[in-house]
Amino acid sequence: MSIRSKATTAVASAAAMTLFAGTALAASPGAPGAGDSYFPKYGNGGYDVSHYDIRLNYNPTGDQLSGTTTILAKATQDLTQFNLDFLLKVKSVRVNNAPASFVSDGGELVLTPKGGVRKGQDLTIVVSYADTPSAVKDSNGITPWTKTPDGALAIGEPEIASWWYPSNDHPTDKATFDVNVAVPNGVEAISNGVFLGQTRQINGWTRWHWRSTKPQATYLTFLTIGQFEIRQSTTPSGQPSVNAYSERLGENADAAKASIERTAEITEFLEQNVGPYPFEAQGGVATPNLGYALENQTRSVYDTAFFRRGANTYVVAHEVGHQWFGDSVSVHGWRDIWLNEGFASYMEFLWSEHIGEGTAQENADYTYDLYPADSPFWQILPGDPGPANVFDGAVYDRGALAVHALRVAVGDEKFFEILKTWTAEKKFSNATVEEFIAVAERVSGQQLDQLFQTWLFTKGKPAEAPGRAGEVAASLAAGPAVTKAAEPKSRAKIQLTHELLDAHK
Ligand code: ARG
Ligand code: ZN
Repeated sequence: MSIRSKATTAVASAAAMTLFAGTALAASPGAPGAGDSYFPKYGNGGYDVSHYDIRLNYNPTGDQLSGTTTILAKATQDLTQFNLDFLLKVKSVRVNNAPASFVSDGGELVLTPKGGVRKGQDLTIVVSYADTPSAVKDSNGITPWTKTPDGALAIGEPEIASWWYPSNDHPTDKATFDVNVAVPNGVEAISNGVFLGQTRQINGWTRWHWRSTKPQATYLTFLTIGQFEIRQSTTPSGQPSVNAYSERLGENADAAKASIERTAEITEFLEQNVGPYPFEAQGGVATPNLGYALENQTRSVYDTAFFRRGANTYVVAHEVGHQWFGDSVSVHGWRDIWLNEGFASYMEFLWSEHIGEGTAQENADYTYDLYPADSPFWQILPGDPGPANVFDGAVYDRGALAVHALRVAVGDEKFFEILKTWTAEKKFSNATVEEFIAVAERVSGQQLDQLFQTWLFTKGKPAEAPGRAGEVAASLAAGPAVTKAAEPKSRAKIQLTHELLDAHK
């Protein structure tokens, strides 16, 4: 803690003593973290955000970002001070209209509102700031904000918010959003949800307005700025769709369009398998410079590399699958990442079967055979991969095998009932792996702890590929000439997809 923040705390406690004189429990500072076991400093305690109004100006020349974010929140305890997660230079802070003192301390913006805050009190927090995000590093020296030749990408998991807006940066505190960004005329600014239009400003700039009306996690809120071709349409289901293609996609442009333009079709297919699509809009963005893809709510962003060998609808099935698994039903803690990646990867298997490029079983067999028993792959536990391995290939591939193991154990009818029950009961909220296991057991009427213990929580290669037919297994055991399942047509694209998504690539 810096000298200045110590001084602020002392002043704050004195003020709080006046306000809270006579109350049994003294007010205290809000916790600097939300209690995530992998990332203890992510998020904060003491309040609950309901809405972010992000109003910014961005000049691609020099990567200059400035503006104001207004946060609507409610205090969940008596507070002397509380934190926002934020790394940019702050100019001023007001809480309920009164200037509040603030200290920026290693990614924590510590606010001390005059007189403290009462439990249950509504808060309006206004933070004004200006900085060059690409020059800002967190305590690990990392900068997820990407400056591009024509703009910027504010995209990242598990973290990006701190490089462009102050927040309670943990998936357990979801909120609605207005993202309102002014850029020089001729530049595009794309974000989540519904596009509410552009306004020409007097100074040769244009303001773009995007709105998310369903609860949205901070890391799934994105901003992409640059030269884009934008395609607006209405899906057959009546939803607004916005797709955007960087003008720098080069020879991959058509393959990207032939994939992302099928978003509504893929959404329709997944709805039949996992339940109604939870959000108010659809879309996808293709860009160079990202290196992976991210399931930003209603509008995933894909690096152009996914399309370098032609159309790739598997990555679209994966990211659209995340809209249910990750975006609507979000992790309770980052340890629960299998609930996102295992299921989004399994959506690729379902899509492969649907388009006749290999059944889910064939994909599972092939994946199981791909990694020899002594591969380090089998040492990562999808159910508890550790903070350094949240996006390890095993969370995807072994994670999908775990989902398939459940399917063959309970049968198709119960399996899809489990998925639909899960997405309905946990819609717009957060969940743990243990809660999934409980729902699977309840819906199937079967005891499944051994199965999940084997596939999610035990190091080493499980003895059998889930659901592999007995005779095939026997012939495989017979000799090395036939020890590997044939490669499904979909595998090359699925493999490319997982290689790019894997953060260890
Ligand atoms: N959740 C993203 C996806 O599976 C992957 C993010 C991985 N991050 C990375 N730096 N590769 O679609
Ligand atoms: Zn994923």
